[in-house]
Amino acid sequence: MNDQSPATLFTPPGKVSETRPYNPDPARGYTIPAHHYYDPAIYQEELESIFYRSWLYVSHVEKVSQPGDYVTTTIGDQNVFVIRGKDGVLRAFYNVCQHRGHELLKGSGSSKIITCPYHAWSYHADGELRTARGCQDMVDFDKANFSLKQVSVDVFCNMLFVNLDPNASPVATQLDGLEEELRQYCPTLDDLTHAETLLFDVHANWKNVVDNFVECYHCPIGHPAFVELVDMPSYRTNTHRLWSSHCGHAKSGENSAYKFEGSVEDTAFGAWWIWPDLTLVMNPGCPNLVVFRMKPGGPELTNETLEFYLSGKTPNAVEQASIDYFRDTLNPEDLGLVESVQRGLHSRGYNQGRYVIDKDRTQNSEHGLHHFHTRVLEALGRI
Ligand code: FES
Ligand SMILES: [Fe+2]
Repeated sequence: MNDQSPATLFTPPGKVSETRPYNPDPARGYTIPAHHYYDPAIYQEELESIFYRSWLYVSHVEKVSQPGDYVTTTIGDQNVFVIRGKDGVLRAFYNVCQHRGHELLKGSGSSKIITCPYHAWSYHADGELRTARGCQDMVDFDKANFSLKQVSVDVFCNMLFVNLDPNASPVATQLDGLEEELRQYCPTLDDLTHAETLLFDVHANWKNVVDNFVECYHCPIGHPAFVELVDMPSYRTNTHRLWSSHCGHAKSGENSAYKFEGSVEDTAFGAWWIWPDLTLVMNPGCPNLVVFRMKPGGPELTNETLEFYLSGKTPNAVEQASIDYFRDTLNPEDLGLVESVQRGLHSRGYNQGRYVIDKDRTQNSEHGLHHFHTRVLEALGRI
């Protein structure tokens, strides 16, 4: 935690409304104070208290299926890679050479030996230093002291995760009950392959983007086609320790989002949020999983990656229509909303709002928003 920040909620100078304290009762609570969505000190604190100690999504595990396959990722200013060793074991390391700190790997690919592009020190895929050019006669030089520094890695429902916390408990333990629910919605989950990626840079704080995802109160106003696709009266939101969901039935046939035919099993819509910045969507009409990460790129920048896991590498007509709807309609609608909110959060005339709570947890209820804010404020030590 940043020593400069008091561990309580406060009102920054200029705001016309005083900050109300956190309330564990969503029906009485006020949202996170606006400056938490742009203050660089709070952002830094979130990196330390949340992102440097939570499981973060990297890719479909198929990307590292063979010995030597690797994939890199960034977490704040930390660069990490995951590689499968020749023993078949997945390991993750800080992506930094132990000589003078050059980055070792870029993007993704396959290499049994990791060679630093600067002075060519090389490492085995288990992180051990293999060769250090010109160091064989150096005094007090023990290669064993220069292994790569390991971080935690795990696989959950074919999704690869890393965690800088070496003592993190497994993803499945933290997300108790989620796997069963996902498999109920998509029994062929294990057959899905990564087929398509969409990238969006959003000029908004990552929490603002998550806030928008975890409630559908805005759906009838912001997403006219979505409320034709999904049967809104059936919509319910549920909260668990580190994940929440909002799911409902969908309507097959003609609608303005995209057309599909389907039996009752095919007609569910599911949306899940996973602590801290990952969301999953199952679109109606086909077995699929949209792995949608809202990765912080700065205090007021979110790098969204949407990976579509489908039954094959080439989308069929319904799958393509669902991707087109996400790319051209649904996500642009949300971007307009959250970027407007991001500007509004800076207004001296806005500090906090109320959660709109419906005890039946219907499509209008912001239970998921209060739940997300609780996890954030807990992690920051503010409650
Ligand atoms: S920094 Fe990697 S070999 Fe010098
Ligand atoms: Fe939305």
